[in-house]
Amino acid sequence: MASSDIAGRGMFITFEGGEGCGKSTQVKRFAARLEASGRKVLLTREPGGTRLSELVRSLLKDEREDPPCDRAELLLFLAARAQLVNNVVLPALEAGTWVVSDRFSDSTFAYQGYGRGLPLDVLRMANDFACAGLRPDRTVLLDADPAVTLARMRSREAATATEADRIERAGAEFHSRLRRGFLEMAAAEPDRISVVDASGTPEEVEGRIWKSLKLSP
Ligand SMILES: Nc1ncnc2c1ncn2[C@@H]1O[C@H](COP(=O)(O)OP(=O)(O)OP(=O)(O)O)[C@@H](O)[C@H]1O
Ligand SMILES: [Mg+2]
Repeated sequence: MASSDIAGRGMFITFEGGEGCGKSTQVKRFAARLEASGRKVLLTREPGGTRLSELVRSLLKDEREDPPCDRAELLLFLAARAQLVNNVVLPALEAGTWVVSDRFSDSTFAYQGYGRGLPLDVLRMANDFACAGLRPDRTVLLDADPAVTLARMRSREAATATEADRIERAGAEFHSRLRRGFLEMAAAEPDRISVVDASGTPEEVEGRIWKSLKLSP
């Protein structure tokens, strides 16, 4: 049990992993399960979750004429995060609400650090500043072979008549660097980050996540 579970402050739980591994599917299932267990829950996503942060999200996903350089991309992600933490996440946690976020800081380390090659020490310092020092209590890393997740993304694009966004279109080598980065971070912080096998049905993955977090009933 994490200390925040005892003290009456909400717990902050984040879901991470590469494109199409099932984060958005699983955060909804997890939040519903937490609510059913009697906790007050706020579900949010990154980048997004406030009006300003959602505007930044659309810039990050869709800008094709003047795509952000790596440093601008980092700062846009961090601006969206600072607004979300300040206006949504911290007030909710202080009020005793549990906050579940579809992506958070580990995505920055994976994408901008391991993926784009920006220095990790700079990312950690800038990210801590953006978050006012807030770190997740627990993190679920959904891990799957990129071939599995690529197939899921293609079927999602077909089902929703959408195209892959700017980051999703990055090559296979980029995506395998991301996976390696996420797994390295999980190995470095095993008490916070639970690696969950994202293959199988949504029900199977949901069960694995709940078990891995070992929350009190
Ligand atoms: N366990 C599963 N088995 C098969 N398909 C799945 C499973 N989980 C999710 N999907 C489908 O795969 C696609 C990607 O899932 P989802 O959108 O939840 O992933 P994501 O990690 O949020 O992706 P992104 O990083 O792009 O936001 C969706 O069409 C979803 O319905
Ligand atoms: Mg998603």
